[in-house]
Amino acid sequence: RPSWPGLIEAYRQYLPVTQTTPVVTLLEGNTPLIPVPAIAQIIGKQVRVFVKYDGLNPTGSFKDRGMTMAISKAKEAGAKAVICASTGNTSAAAAAYARRGGMRAFVLIPDGYVALGKLAQALLYGAEVLAIKGNFDQALEIVREMAQSYPVTLVNSVNPYRLEGQKTAAFEIVEVLGNAPDWLCIPVGNAGNITAYWMGFCQYHQDGKCDRLPRMMGFQASGASPLVTGKVVTNPETLATAIRIGNPANWEKAIATQQASLGQFAAVTDEEILDAYRMLASQEGIFCEPASAASVAGLLKVKDQVPPGATVVCVLTGNGLKDPDTAIKHCQNSFKQGIEPEVAAVAQAMGF
Ligand code: F0G
Repeated sequence: RPSWPGLIEAYRQYLPVTQTTPVVTLLEGNTPLIPVPAIAQIIGKQVRVFVKYDGLNPTGSFKDRGMTMAISKAKEAGAKAVICASTGNTSAAAAAYARRGGMRAFVLIPDGYVALGKLAQALLYGAEVLAIKGNFDQALEIVREMAQSYPVTLVNSVNPYRLEGQKTAAFEIVEVLGNAPDWLCIPVGNAGNITAYWMGFCQYHQDGKCDRLPRMMGFQASGASPLVTGKVVTNPETLATAIRIGNPANWEKAIATQQASLGQFAAVTDEEILDAYRMLASQEGIFCEPASAASVAGLLKVKDQVPPGATVVCVLTGNGLKDPDTAIKHCQNSFKQGIEPEVAAVAQAMGF
């Protein structure tokens, strides 16, 4: 089969690029839509459930979709440096694409609240990593201001090119299913991705590529759920550090998306997130990061509302390998250590 050219080449006609835009790509996109029958069975009612496994992008998260666009456009505009605030994934993607495009990458992260794999990526890709004694919301405020007074291009999801790139995930889903799903379940932090997916579905709908639009179901961690409560959270807390955000930059757009799609915002607890996280891995063989599992946790939480026979897609935004600490810490049951190096001892530990 022909090799995938990356999402800018694949969807050029739907993206704000020209023949002279320098395309900075790692061949992101074209990620699999995987059926998850064990989860469908819990819901029953003959529903079909799929996960859009965007953790298979080049840096391990959906951010690559937005970053190939944001960095290509920054390069086109002659930028020499980019900046972002990040809970980890944006910093990894910004670092990889910026360096590939020959630019400096400055990333502000909340000190102590970025998963190990993400930090390792940003450092090794060659970002200049600045850990601040504050949370993501504070870091975002700082970089927004800095981008106005210093020669650095902001590549957070307030940069419109980010959403343009990220909308392509919706295109891919429609192409595989032959239509839009009935429900799209998605974790929500800064609320860029839910906005981008909605743009993508609407664009394909207008273009006649699907004859319906999904309900957009956005799920937040209960300790960081401003879109559910309607109030800014000053000290957001959740073990799903990727979505540890109390004041989403795309707040209004997310509300508009929820209303236009007849969707819903709901909160899931860290326990519910962990249950879905472990279930996806142990029942379906899919390792995502905790924040991503919020989409499945949310679906299970509101499962009584799923219409019979519905097609549901849950977005798995990031790869489980990003956060090895959480995996090991919350999965000790089957880990037997300190066994003598002898067949008898191993057999005994196996329960034979
Ligand atoms: N899932 C993962 C794995 C994320 O990294 C993020 C956001 C989200 C979901 C939420 O997406 O912000 O568009 O609503 N991570 C950002 C970052 C904040 O800095 O990496 P959103």
